Amino acid sequence: MINLRFQYKHVTNFLSEEEINLMQEDVDISHSLLVEKAGKGNQFLGWIDLPAKMDETLINCIEADAKAFREKIEILVVIGIGGSYLGSKAIIEALSTPFSAFQTDHKNPVVLYAGHNLSQDYHSELIHLLDKKEYAILVISKSGTTTEPAIAFRLLKNHIEKKYGQQEAASRIIAITDNSKGALKSLSEKNGYKTYVIPDDVGGRYSVLSPVGLLPVAIAGYDIRQIIDGACEMRKACIETSSLPDNPAACYAAIRTSLYRMGSQIEILVNYEPSLHYFIEWWKQLFGESEGKENEGLFPAGVDFTSDLHSMGQYIQEGQRMLFETVIHVQKSKHLLSVPNDENDLDGLNYLAGKTLHEVNDMAALGTSLAHIDGEVPNLDIFLPVIDERSLGELIYFFEFACGLSGYLLGINPFNQPGVEAYKNNMFALLGKPGFESETEAIRERINEE
Ligand code: PA5
Repeated sequence: MINLRFQYKHVTNFLSEEEINLMQEDVDISHSLLVEKAGKGNQFLGWIDLPAKMDETLINCIEADAKAFREKIEILVVIGIGGSYLGSKAIIEALSTPFSAFQTDHKNPVVLYAGHNLSQDYHSELIHLLDKKEYAILVISKSGTTTEPAIAFRLLKNHIEKKYGQQEAASRIIAITDNSKGALKSLSEKNGYKTYVIPDDVGGRYSVLSPVGLLPVAIAGYDIRQIIDGACEMRKACIETSSLPDNPAACYAAIRTSLYRMGSQIEILVNYEPSLHYFIEWWKQLFGESEGKENEGLFPAGVDFTSDLHSMGQYIQEGQRMLFETVIHVQKSKHLLSVPNDENDLDGLNYLAGKTLHEVNDMAALGTSLAHIDGEVPNLDIFLPVIDERSLGELIYFFEFACGLSGYLLGINPFNQPGVEAYKNNMFALLGKPGFESETEAIRERINEE
């Protein structure tokens, strides 16, 4: 049974129940294209069955490697970009304390990231930190050839080999990549690194429930079996029926697509728990790369409330009317904290004395939704009972399924990313990559003309 609840009562001022039901026929078609693996990009639909087909041997292997690393390292550096790092970061940030940097009694390694940018300062400072720490590297690249993680891996491989010697360094490196091709695969074979495989039929941004997401999360000390269980439950709810009242992901996909057809251009995913900040980053990548093509697609944006009510809140309330919000509500906090009574009440807050911060946060959320609806911003609501592994497993699969379905409702292929090549080609031409000679000449002429 799933615990996640999707609610659309804050959209009915903008979209009637009849209009939502009119989507059922389109949803039925897209749903069967997805579950029967007959739609565009169907060679990348392995994610649909990933949690259900998760092999016990693979889980045991991930858990054993995670335990071995946990016993000997202080820091795990995950090298990867896009779908190769955002899923694990989203889960780890959601489950860990925001103040882990100040914890002196670390039971589990801290997970840091590299190769998700090209900043010289970021990577220099990381290397300085690693000089003083026990660490290991998990390098993740499906293609095995992406420039940013490849550069970071060359830098850190150099560092770890100097620090520990080649043999020990090799035991501290795990690679996750394609089964048979790519530079990372050949490097791993040559140097004897342990490897895990990203299945051929799973694209980067849909890979969080494969070793790509699960291994870093297990090394960080979290229960990957619960994540898989949550995803399996949500998978059942998503696969079994396309009926809008019964399939929450289909209902979400149908409503966001209707709002898009009615002129919305931006969907803002909202959290009221800062630990979900990176979950929104993962969601932005999932939907942005999946839907934004052929001049179509909602622009996925994100905000952390109530912080951003004091920045983006103004725009959302009164700026251009082209947006809607999807709000993630977490129903139960991990800790209890109430507003204390104060004898003098100089700050005038005694009216809140005894109330938990959670209750105040909930009222801020409700008040904001009502204000935004008055400002003509439709609101969709997702309720999670708590932030734990199981709920995150449900939420991940919910968004993945809704994303695939939304792509088919738009008529595009949600499983490719042809637009990502444009910047790479220019960068390679500018850097003089072998094989790009004519592009280098053309781009140099273009720059000189500007
Ligand atoms: O979703 C995707 O496919 C991309 O975001 C990739 O994950 C990203 O470009 C990294 O690619 P790779 O894993 O091949 O290095």
